[in-house]
Amino acid sequence: MIKKAVFPIAGLGTRFLPATKASAKEMLPVVDKPLIQYAVEEAYAAGIRQMIFVTGRTKRSVEDHFDTAYELETELEAAGKKELLSIARSIAPADMSCVYVRQPRALGLGHAVLCAADLVGNEAFAVLLADDLMVGEPPVMAQMVKQFAHWRASVLAVQDVPREHTKRYGIVSGQQIETDVVDVTGIIEKPAPEVAPTTLAVAGRYILTPGIFAELQSLPRGVGGEIQLTDGIANLLRREKVFAYRYAGTRYDCGSKLGFLQATVDLGENHSEVGAEFKAWLDAR
Ligand code: UTP
Repeated sequence: MIKKAVFPIAGLGTRFLPATKASAKEMLPVVDKPLIQYAVEEAYAAGIRQMIFVTGRTKRSVEDHFDTAYELETELEAAGKKELLSIARSIAPADMSCVYVRQPRALGLGHAVLCAADLVGNEAFAVLLADDLMVGEPPVMAQMVKQFAHWRASVLAVQDVPREHTKRYGIVSGQQIETDVVDVTGIIEKPAPEVAPTTLAVAGRYILTPGIFAELQSLPRGVGGEIQLTDGIANLLRREKVFAYRYAGTRYDCGSKLGFLQATVDLGENHSEVGAEFKAWLDAR
């Protein structure tokens, strides 16, 4: 149904300095897995097989992560460490392909998505922001693909947020047509709480029709030459239906230090290898 996913990873990650000065935010591990791998696994679980990374400076480690580590695999094989070998190999299953395109300057999320236009072509595609770590069953992107199959239009993942937080998100308004689905009529980037039309915030998962590229292309550059994805979606709304879907699951904003710590504790407690011991340690403190 959806074959390609775009991972914009060219942002500067200023909220996580100094860690992100020379390293990719998306490679920060929650317990034992980098953020980008959680997002790629989520896309894979939704049936997506072509992963398109929009990269920038400091992001080369992401390419290495999804490449074959020949030396490491040979060493593990020689040492008979089968379990570790299968972990190393499972990062990039044989039926998954990874392509990389560079965003030369961090000119906004909309611009990053536009950098993937030629690779995506004329088909609907997914966008996953890896710093939003999603935990859901079924995984959130799989839920979204199901919604897309039903509505055959762009789908934005949304969640209710406290009114005082609206200025951190894109906020949608529209007609509620099902318990979890809103027919979107407006979207606005980071409104102040006093003027936010609703408290329904866009989380970092989208399924977009290829019509978004023409909208992004024709957008005037904002402050600092930035092109916002939200503005592109606002224009797309004039031509096409867009739906907002209240996903089932938990989102951790791992682009912020607090969200990252919360994810680490929650996923640490539930980790198959260290969870029980970690939980006992937390409880005993
Ligand atoms: P953020 O708003 O989290 O920006 O971008 P950021 O630069 O990564 O982090 P802060 O706010 O400075 O701490 C949301 C997503 O869009 C990507 C980021 O990599 C992140 O996944 N992005 C943003 C780009 O790929 N290019 C851009 O120009 C901007």
